[in-house]
Amino acid sequence: MAFRLSKAVIPAAGLGTRFLPATKAMPKEMLPVVDKPAIQYVVEEAVAAGLTDVLMITGRNKNALENHFDRVAELETTLEKKGDTDKLQKVNFSTDLADMHYVRQGDPKGLGHAVLRARMHVGREPFAVLLGDDIIDHRDVLLSRMIEVQEQRHASVVALLEVDPSVAHMYGIATVEATDEEDVVKINGLVEKPSPGTAPSNLAIIGRYVLRPEVFDVLETTAPGKGGEIQLTDALQEMANGPSWTGGVYGVVFRGRRYDTGDRLDYIKAIVQLAVEREDLGPELRPWLRDFAADLD
Ligand code: UTP
Repeated sequence: MAFRLSKAVIPAAGLGTRFLPATKAMPKEMLPVVDKPAIQYVVEEAVAAGLTDVLMITGRNKNALENHFDRVAELETTLEKKGDTDKLQKVNFSTDLADMHYVRQGDPKGLGHAVLRARMHVGREPFAVLLGDDIIDHRDVLLSRMIEVQEQRHASVVALLEVDPSVAHMYGIATVEATDEEDVVKINGLVEKPSPGTAPSNLAIIGRYVLRPEVFDVLETTAPGKGGEIQLTDALQEMANGPSWTGGVYGVVFRGRRYDTGDRLDYIKAIVQLAVEREDLGPELRPWLRDFAADLD
């Protein structure tokens, strides 16, 4: 029987400096997007793609992450006594969502360094990496498609999104060639945060990866890159051009809805976008937003 990918790694050990002071004592992954912490959307996405074994890479100030996916006995008892089954269900949902594991990164030396901390847990299997900064709309398929492409091509797979050239310097950017599948490209080169005006394309890596375990061997020897951090993009660049044992890298071009919660302005936009579509909030929020926008001028 074919091997089914089952492990997801979620790096959540970054310092979240763009959200200070909110992130002084609280992880940025716990910031609420409407009424759920950003990290819960990401874990739900992994589980929906069949990845129920979740390893989170955490660091200092990250206890809230573990607590969120654990039981809170006194809260459960209080809600039970009140007969508030609706709220009790919401509490239990995140507790029972996945088989959660945690490992600390120590010093936040970069995304590549964080991923390398997953080596023992993952072993020699392909695995997914999901970043909490990107929320993919649950109605659009991305991760399952990436897993499918990984299984067919036996390569590592990144998610790509067409971005405006003016923001390309904020992403890892790919040089690609077409394949026989419309949404799949072969990656020939990757560059992390190219200087403005030098990006080789407008295809940016977004925070979803399905990787071969050989990435760990490459990361072991990846030198610090942009910002003095060990960059996952640099390791993938080596795999895209490197020796055949690394398996090569493909990209799945995503054309669905993605909400960027990594910086403050995009975070605010993400909350508004998701809230207007909610059945419980949208009907009241939409007319209010229209009036508010009309008054702005
Ligand atoms: P970011 O660069 O967006 O996160 O990393 P950050 O460093 O926390 O953010 P700012 O720029 O200071 O505001 C992308 C993802 O990689 C994780 C982060 O937690 C985030 O999910 N990461 C980054 C780590 O786990 N460890 C690191 O050393 C760096």
